[in-house]
Amino acid sequence: MTHPRDTDFAAVSAATKLLIDRGLERPDVVVVLGSGLSSFADGLGDALIVPYADIPGFPRTAVSGHRGAAVGCTLGGKRALVFSGRVHHYEGCSPADVTFSVLLAAELGAGAFVITNASGGIDPGFDVGDLMLISDQIATVSGPRKLPPGTFRMAGAYSERLRALARRAAADGKIRLREGVYMGSLGPTYETPAEIRMARRMGASAVGMSTVSEVQAAHSRGLEVMGIALITNIPLPGRFRETTHEEVLEAGRLGAGALVSLVSSTLERL
Ligand code: HPA
Repeated sequence: MTHPRDTDFAAVSAATKLLIDRGLERPDVVVVLGSGLSSFADGLGDALIVPYADIPGFPRTAVSGHRGAAVGCTLGGKRALVFSGRVHHYEGCSPADVTFSVLLAAELGAGAFVITNASGGIDPGFDVGDLMLISDQIATVSGPRKLPPGTFRMAGAYSERLRALARRAAADGKIRLREGVYMGSLGPTYETPAEIRMARRMGASAVGMSTVSEVQAAHSRGLEVMGIALITNIPLPGRFRETTHEEVLEAGRLGAGALVSLVSSTLERL
């Protein structure tokens, strides 16, 4: 496997060593939490919390709604490492920063990689609070990297096996689960009505400001990826009203419980 040449491997190694020293080697799954979803990490049994400030080289987020800690815990009977808080391109972070947690997951020997986010739902059948299993992505942003074309291989990035397990978990738990394509934009502005029309025509069901770069790196490093978007607002032209960060966070808080249930019962089936 080739390594991205723009990544600071000394930093990734130092961070990996710290987490191994804290007993977090070889998690069965790494979970990345999106905006407002930090409450996911509350009340997890046997949690071992490592603030990002303790992890050498770990990029820190200044965005509210993102906590900033790695949490070792048991989820669905599996050894999980949860990254509660992520950095975004719109904060001025480089692709290497945005994918730092992914490289850490790979170096720690994780199997599955579950990525979550808060998104605007642009499929007319969606409602606020819905969970959307990501089937594929449209990356309108990933930032300049010193890498040759084709470095990241994307076919089948969102694991069909994990999606099948998630569908079964949702059906058994009576959790309404949508499925669709996620479009990642640069942000920090929410989309205009014209951008939403464009995204619909391009085949997106949800839009957000994260995830796509992380999934490129995760799939290329051989991690089995599952992505779940929590629909926090519906910016469709007919129903359009300016989205606020506060409403996204509030919908995230309300939806975190269903997200934890879905992820843990999917992991139980692994
Ligand atoms: N657009 C982009 N990012 C988002 C949205 C949205 O409507 N909702 C939550 N994150």
